[in-house]
Amino acid sequence: MQRRGVLALGAAAALPLAHAAAGPLRRIGFVSCIHQERPQALVDFLAEQAFDLFLFGGDNVYAPRPYGRDKLRAAYDKAAAAPGYTRLRRKQPHMAVWDDNDYDSADGGASFAFRQEAREEFLAFWQVQSQDPRRSQEGLYHAQTFGPPGQRVQVIVLDTRSFRSRILRDTVRLPGDGGYTPDPDPAKTMLGAAQWQWLEAQLRQPAEVRLLVSSIQVLAEGHRWERWGNLPAERERLLALVGGTGAQGVVLLSGDRHFGALYRREAGLPYGLTELTSSGVTHSWDSPTDAQGNRVGAPYTGFNYATVDIDWAGRSLRLAVRDAQGTERLGQAIAFNDLKA
Ligand SMILES: [Fe+2]
Repeated sequence: MQRRGVLALGAAAALPLAHAAAGPLRRIGFVSCIHQERPQALVDFLAEQAFDLFLFGGDNVYAPRPYGRDKLRAAYDKAAAAPGYTRLRRKQPHMAVWDDNDYDSADGGASFAFRQEAREEFLAFWQVQSQDPRRSQEGLYHAQTFGPPGQRVQVIVLDTRSFRSRILRDTVRLPGDGGYTPDPDPAKTMLGAAQWQWLEAQLRQPAEVRLLVSSIQVLAEGHRWERWGNLPAERERLLALVGGTGAQGVVLLSGDRHFGALYRREAGLPYGLTELTSSGVTHSWDSPTDAQGNRVGAPYTGFNYATVDIDWAGRSLRLAVRDAQGTERLGQAIAFNDLKA
């Protein structure tokens, strides 16, 4: 009896898996960069909001440098003890992936020696189930499609850490400058062969809207921090894959940067792609030094989260960066017709 009681309690405390999300999805939330040691007001706020699906885009905790498993676990323990963070994870059906601060704490890639133990800590905190492919495969990439035909949202979550080649850093690095410089080496990879193959298969699945989640920015120019532009051949491969597979409905979601912004690219694409970056739930960068590049307008530099609101009847969606009170600070409406060739 007692053991049963314990099991029941454990089940009640389990996190809602993404498949618990009822389709069709109408409101999807996105966040990145939640520091467990900082005030959690926006986390608490988000825990009280209603989302059909919630996406954690990386830096979901901050492990102090240099990496140590004990430090990473302590960061997760602190997040697990935070009432708002726990409410958020328990209430919202969600999907999650890591960035560097919940990986090696130092912009690491495939060469990170302790990837397996960092992965084990991730799988434990996010209660990834034993039958989940992420338990048996290398890497935390995963995808899921929600909703009936005609109202399908496919969420594709990339792992930009586990397989990524070493990126180049310039010898000159100014304040406010990440110092990374594009590496034209075609042998270098962002996703690794297996994830590329998986992604191609995912993009061939039918869906009306596809949210492609990358912890680091994909389209963004104008800065020298981590971004897909550091491996330009890999970025072109990604964009060519969207065209080559005929995947419609693609919108990019990214984090990492500690501000919110929208980016746009049309060149060489079957249809214009928009990237929404939202980062900084507990701490943000109030004076980013990025050049305008392909950013649409100004960044929003307060604490922020993002929403994707889908109007199935109107065949359109709205991307928004929202402040800590939920007010839209940046937004863009996109018709489904503009997300196909
Ligand atoms: Fe971050």
